[in-house]
Amino acid sequence: MKKGVKYVVRKKGMFWPSQEMKKIANITDSKIYEKAAKNPIKFWENLAREGITWEKEWDKAYVEKLPYFQWFRNGKLNFSVNCLDRHLDHGSRVAMIWVPEPVSEKPVKWTYRELYDKVCRFANVLKSNGIRKGDVVSIYLPMIPEALVAMLACTRIGAIHSVVFSAFSTDALRARIEDGNAKIIITSDGYFRRGKPEFLLKKAVKAAKNTTVEKIIVVDRLGKRVRGKKFLDFYTEVELADSYCEPEIVNSQDTMFILYTSGTTGKPKGIVHDTGGYAVQAYWTSKWNFNLNPGDLMWCTADVGWITGHTYAFYGPLLTGATTLIYEGSPDYPDPGRWWEIIEEHKVNVFYTAPTAIRMFMRVNENWIKKHDLSSIRILGTVGEPIDEESWMWYFEKIGGGRCPIIDTWWQTETGGTLINVLPGIGPFVPTVSGKSFPGVTHRIVDDNGKPVKKGKEGFLVQKSPFAPGMLHGVFNNHKKYVDTYWKKFRKYYDTSDGAFIYKGLIRITGRTDDVMKVAGHRLATAELENAIHSHKKVAECAVVPMPDEIRGQVPVAFVVLKRGGGSERLERKIKKFVDQKIGPTARPHKIYFVGDLPKTRSGKIMRRILKALLVNEEPKGLMTLVNPESVEEIRKTISKYGSKK
Ligand code: WTA
Repeated sequence: MKKGVKYVVRKKGMFWPSQEMKKIANITDSKIYEKAAKNPIKFWENLAREGITWEKEWDKAYVEKLPYFQWFRNGKLNFSVNCLDRHLDHGSRVAMIWVPEPVSEKPVKWTYRELYDKVCRFANVLKSNGIRKGDVVSIYLPMIPEALVAMLACTRIGAIHSVVFSAFSTDALRARIEDGNAKIIITSDGYFRRGKPEFLLKKAVKAAKNTTVEKIIVVDRLGKRVRGKKFLDFYTEVELADSYCEPEIVNSQDTMFILYTSGTTGKPKGIVHDTGGYAVQAYWTSKWNFNLNPGDLMWCTADVGWITGHTYAFYGPLLTGATTLIYEGSPDYPDPGRWWEIIEEHKVNVFYTAPTAIRMFMRVNENWIKKHDLSSIRILGTVGEPIDEESWMWYFEKIGGGRCPIIDTWWQTETGGTLINVLPGIGPFVPTVSGKSFPGVTHRIVDDNGKPVKKGKEGFLVQKSPFAPGMLHGVFNNHKKYVDTYWKKFRKYYDTSDGAFIYKGLIRITGRTDDVMKVAGHRLATAELENAIHSHKKVAECAVVPMPDEIRGQVPVAFVVLKRGGGSERLERKIKKFVDQKIGPTARPHKIYFVGDLPKTRSGKIMRRILKALLVNEEPKGLMTLVNPESVEEIRKTISKYGSKK
């Protein structure tokens, strides 16, 4: 391995930015926090002016009438202009590098001009198919460049994109199409994963049946041409379309996209993001967290089906005029050296991934990594779940060569962009600790009553007004859910549903305080999974709880009471498959235990806490409140019979 520049130094048992980092960092003055805190609205206003191109300035920077608030009200802009048009003076710069999974296929590079051309043309395709400002367009695409084209084309004409993760099932897609009343779906015939083609189109066609969908636009990835009145071929249309599309100028507060995420109830929520505020946060967090400048290459490994893919695989790098790398396939295909080979070949400067991937690579032979030159990396990032010290150190040493800061970014689908992390030019970088609220944003750690907890004590992480510009602006078509989920408990604070405490003056996240799991970084509600399992005809009752897992962080485990008869391995397999159909393989339970009864309170509430304790071999507490304490012994026996791990 080549050595590379050292961007961190060790001081007093902590890591700090080195002189080399200070030299290149976009922000190095720690006074920025105080400055921003003095007048956060002014601070964001200045950043908005500096970072984003507006057609017309806002008439009010921030308006708040809780639970709603707006940033840069009536400021006029177009998002795609900010990602594309304004970089066209340097149009030959590469905007995107796409690495297909099959090694026999060459990577694809598009310059800003090429991407601009495709986006304009495809925007015209959408227009000629009746899509107008404010219409919802469903995008069901894997990690291929056309996903970027499709999303940017929506923003070009002010349409609202709703991206659905390509591994989600037909049912999951249908629910999202119906919620948004989408007239068009953009999908592909499929993609490659672990060396095999995965077919998407069939799922999309099925999902669209008897919905508002009129047209399905299909990207030809696998060479399967589609025919039929309802179908349009992506590239045939793009070639026929006009190469200029006037950008639709929208208001800052207009919705740019919705993205569904899991909450504590069975139905996923459509998180609503606006245009101006989102753009400002995506731009500045990319600029300051990842130090992105034109010419830099960022690789964020998240799929575009998740918020991380939206903001840091696609939009953040483009807003800053940098280059984004996207990869179609599996991290370890055809061998565990694939990711590291990609970094070496393309000279990636910023690498952003999830702890689950780090833990996976910690288990493979180090030579897969060692033989690659990773000296182009300047900054490492992590996101999605708390990272333990061992994984942090491994990432730091083996991938960063002990040279690069790790930026542990805490944020959520709802926050649009990162909110808590250390800035690379400021530091310190402390294993397991996310850091400080981004300048201009304030978090508090409070108890059940919203009162600040004592220093160092764990509490609920909440955000205080003025809320960050990238924050959500509602749940699509569901005011009540928006209020109940985020504002009911603490009223004046935004409730993150995460626990946290202060460690060495920095925020350390402890994880979700609600019934939401993070499985390999993916967000999944126990209720959503319970609903899916419950709808199986043989199931009478079920409870799903997370179980710790060495690689994936958490995995869902289901306890099922059948209507009649006993369980079997065959039925377990069938129910798992059923979940694949209802939600998708990311939600598949790791294990299903068939039991006679579930521990319940007198009011009929299932005590998942008890199930959780039994799974990790701990003595469950609070058995007195149960109507059926004997169920606990039976469950304990079932678990020990089959083992708590596969
Ligand atoms: C968790 C992902 C600890 C947290 C961007 C949050 C984290 C949920 C971190 C949101 C981190 C995200 N450290 N926990 N650095 N980043 N989380 O919506 O529980 O998929 O509430 O957004 O992930 O998950 P989501």
